[in-house]
Amino acid sequence: MEIKTIEWINGKVRWLNTLLLPYEESYVESSSYERVAEAIERMEIRGAPAIGVAAAFGVALAASSFEGSDISSFRSFLMKVIERFERTRPTAVNLFWALDRLRSLIVSYVGEVDRLKELLIEEAMKIYKEDIEVNKLIGYYGSQLIDDGDVILTHCNAGALATAGYGTALGVIRSAWYSGKRIKVVATETRPVLQGARLTVWELIKEGIPVVLITDSMVGYLMSKGMISKVIVGADRILSTGHVINKIGTYTIAVVASRHRIPFYVAAPTSTIDLRKKVDEVVIEERDPNEVRYVLGKLLITVPNVDVLNPSFDITPPELITAIITEKGVITKPIEDNLPKFMSR
Ligand code: MRU
Repeated sequence: MEIKTIEWINGKVRWLNTLLLPYEESYVESSSYERVAEAIERMEIRGAPAIGVAAAFGVALAASSFEGSDISSFRSFLMKVIERFERTRPTAVNLFWALDRLRSLIVSYVGEVDRLKELLIEEAMKIYKEDIEVNKLIGYYGSQLIDDGDVILTHCNAGALATAGYGTALGVIRSAWYSGKRIKVVATETRPVLQGARLTVWELIKEGIPVVLITDSMVGYLMSKGMISKVIVGADRILSTGHVINKIGTYTIAVVASRHRIPFYVAAPTSTIDLRKKVDEVVIEERDPNEVRYVLGKLLITVPNVDVLNPSFDITPPELITAIITEKGVITKPIEDNLPKFMSR
């Protein structure tokens, strides 16, 4: 049962508006790159790999819409489009990684406008297809770490709905499930945007993989009672030091998992690994305070205008991580030493 989170169809981008899940399975189709940029900002499309693919498709849409044959005006138009996409969300590195791939192509290109348009569409399609293949490989490597009978806790949504398809953390879970391991998933609701309750649960139930939903604050209790055997999460950015930036709440789960000696795995493609930035240089997205004051923008759950903090991501240090599962294999402890070696192989 394939979930089509985002696709390129006949010169348009089509995506599943994940903001409406699980109530409505509603697709949006557009040929406007600005509409795609807005979809990333509003989180209709979200999850590190999915926003990278969306931005690549967005640049391809912009290229297709350009009228004219002057290559230098085309190039400067495309650079502005890339800058527009770079401003959509700051934390997940896959967005910048995908845009850098297109930028290099544009900068090194010599020739006519029409050919560059074709090349940009081809490159965006490559980014899309590679993402699905890479997730399946992550699933393959990760499932070898899963035992029959495991109860696996996951946070946020690192599934098909966060990627071009299959998923990273949920890719490992899918792969283990289809290899015949009888596993169960515990999904945290993931306040305030509820990606766990709305998306992970929807995705797993659709596929018949056993899942139970908990609130974020139940994690410690369940771990202390021996009810969780492994944790698998995705990542928005992984630094050369092994620090993992992922959905707010990941760090808390890692601390409690370590206290109870529960393996804590991160599943992510190597495109999520950022060898350049240092931990203090990463921008942690601070989102609209109303995400916290209201449930899904509808029900006010506090005193109006109370001061709110709403960092969307946190940072888990390498000592709390058992291993990082990538499409090229598994990075084991000590992650801070092994990650740079792994990346330079
Ligand atoms: O704010 P979101 O929903 O884009 O955050 C998503 C996450 O934190 C995911 O865990 C991460 O992007 C990995 S997705 C394969």
